[in-house]
Amino acid sequence: MRLCALSFLCMLLGLFIVKSVNGYYGQRHFQCYYTRDLNTIEFIHSWYFNKFEYLRYNSTTDKYTGYTDYGVIQAAALNQDPKNSLYSTVYTFCKDRSDKYATNILKRVKPEVTVRSLRSASDNLPAVLMCTVYDYHPKGVKVSWLRDGKVVNEGVSSTDELSDGDWYYQIHTYLEYVPRPGENISCMVEHESLTQPHIHTWEPPLPVAERNKLIIGIFLLVLGIFLAVAGFLYYMLRAKECPLEKTSQSISLERTVSETSSEASNP
Ligand SMILES: *[C@@H]1O[C@H](CO)[C@@H](O)[C@H](O)[C@H]1NC(C)=O
Ligand SMILES: *[C@@H]1O[C@H](CO)[C@@H](O)[C@H](O)[C@H]1NC(C)=O
Repeated sequence: MRLCALSFLCMLLGLFIVKSVNGYYGQRHFQCYYTRDLNTIEFIHSWYFNKFEYLRYNSTTDKYTGYTDYGVIQAAALNQDPKNSLYSTVYTFCKDRSDKYATNILKRVKPEVTVRSLRSASDNLPAVLMCTVYDYHPKGVKVSWLRDGKVVNEGVSSTDELSDGDWYYQIHTYLEYVPRPGENISCMVEHESLTQPHIHTWEPPLPVAERNKLIIGIFLLVLGIFLAVAGFLYYMLRAKECPLEKTSQSISLERTVSETSSEASNP
C-alpha cells in the first residue's frame, strides 16, 4: 500500500486460493505492483490464516518475512534455500499480466465535469457550489476554482479522489463564497488526459421573476404560432371548398342569364 501512496499504479492481480477446514480460512494473495511506465515490478506473495497475514515474500528484497511466531520460523527456513525464491514470478506472472492489460492500464480517459449549486446565499450563510469531476482515468486530477479568472483559495474544500471500482475515479470540490453581481465563477480541471485545463463556468439559474417572464414569453410565442398556423390552414380549407372568384363569377353569369331571359319575356 505504501507504493500506492507514492502515486505508483498498483494492482491486485492474482487472487487467492481459499481452503476451509472446520471454519478456519487460509488465503494466499499474489500481488503485482507496477510503476507507471510498467518497467519496475514488485511481486508480493502473502499467506494468511483467518485473515491475518503471517508470511510474506517480497521480490524487491527477494526474502520471506514472518509476522507470527510460526511465520518467523517458516520465513527463516525458506530464506535458507535460494531454490525457494519466487523472483521469476515477476516475469512469469506479473510481466505477463501487464503485457496483456497494458492498453487498459495506460488508457487515459477525460473527466466529465458538472458544476451545481448546493446552497444559495442567504442573510447569514454564504453560497456553496459543488464541482463534480467524474469517470476519468487514471487517478490524479487537480481541481481549482476561478473567480473572474483568478484562482480562489479561501472557502475551498474537497473529497478525496474516490475509486468507482471500475477503473474510473471521481472527486467533488466545494466553494463557499459570497456572490457578487456579474462575476464569473469557474471550476478548472487539470488531468493528464487533457492537453489544456478544462474550464467549466458556472451559469447561475435566472432569478424567479426573470424566469417567469421568460416562461410566459415562450408560452405566448408558441400560442401565437399555433393560432397563425391554425388560421392559415382554416383559410386554405375554406378556399378549396368554395373558391371565391368562381362563386362571384357564376353569380354574375346567372344574373346576366336571368336579366336576358327577363328582357326576352318582356316584350
Ligand atoms: C518490499 O520491499 C521493499 C524494500 O524493502 C519495500 O520498499 C516495499 O515496501 C516492500 N513491499 C511490501 C508490499 O511490503
Ligand atoms: C469565465 O472565466 C473563464 C476562465 O477565466 C473563461 O474561460 C470564460 O470565458 C469566462 N466566461 C465568461 C462568460 O466571461
